[in-house]
Amino acid sequence: MNTSGNTILITGGTSGLGLAFAEQFLQDGNTVIICGRRTERLHQIKEKHPAIITKECDVANEQQREELAAWAIQQYPTLNILMNNAGIQLVTDLTKPVDLATVRSEVETNLIAPIHLSSLFAPHLKTQKDPAIINISSGLAFAPIAFMPVYCATKAAVHSLTLSMRHQLKGSVKVYEIAPPSTDTELGHQRRADKTQTHGGIPISEFLAEAMDGLKNDIPEIAVGQSKGLRAKREELFDNMNH
Ligand SMILES: NC(=O)c1ccc[n+]([C@@H]2O[C@H](COP(=O)([O-])OP(=O)(O)OC[C@H]3O[C@@H](n4cnc5c(N)ncnc54)[C@H](OP(=O)(O)O)[C@@H]3O)[C@@H](O)[C@H]2O)c1
Repeated sequence: MNTSGNTILITGGTSGLGLAFAEQFLQDGNTVIICGRRTERLHQIKEKHPAIITKECDVANEQQREELAAWAIQQYPTLNILMNNAGIQLVTDLTKPVDLATVRSEVETNLIAPIHLSSLFAPHLKTQKDPAIINISSGLAFAPIAFMPVYCATKAAVHSLTLSMRHQLKGSVKVYEIAPPSTDTELGHQRRADKTQTHGGIPISEFLAEAMDGLKNDIPEIAVGQSKGLRAKREELFDNMNH
């Protein structure tokens, strides 16, 4: 895809990968809109990059998703790219009754929001030049880590969703999936008692370079770093089972 001259909405642009994409896309000559729940972060980003358009929005809230779509389309009619990036990562112990509100919040944020937002934006995107939807899944979409079963299931679902979305929007909107490997962001910071402890994984800059390269080369399913191995193993397994 052409990575300049677009108008891009990135959900969850207040930290980590979303913020890194926002800064890169801005530098590459795009109009960039980000959203997130943390007002303070949105203010700080606006101060650092006055050109980035910021919007407070909780994508886990249905009404706020509808308001976000209506506002973005009305205010930025040239919007041609939606990046479904916002996500949370929680630990779920399946050996005892789960807290359903917590489970629902993770599914709502990671899966229902991309489904709903993509459908809200699709009719508008279809009318734009070079339209695209970019879904951020995970290497864990292909092989789960068992202590985060709901997170991994949502990411497997985002992968599946992306395949169907690409099929339905064929010929009108390009649909990309980026599967990051473990990357050093704030993801899962709620579960770390020691807040100075990092997520671990590769530096954000390393992830970003490979992901942008994939987009520039128009690769529909961009598995970055270690995610490549996880994706390849799944496909190998599929081939073995269906030989
Ligand atoms: N880092 C990794 O190792 C890794 C690996 C594979 C996939 N991913 C995926 O990459 C994406 C970005 O994660 P990250 O690593 O950059 O983590 P991060 O630093 O924690 O960023 C997550 C972003 O999502 C936003 N967000 C979360 N819940 C939201 C909600 N309800 N409404 C609006 N925004 C919300 C956060 O903003 P607010 O808190 O301000 O709302 C924040 O901007 C996620 O989908 C994640 O699953 C990350």
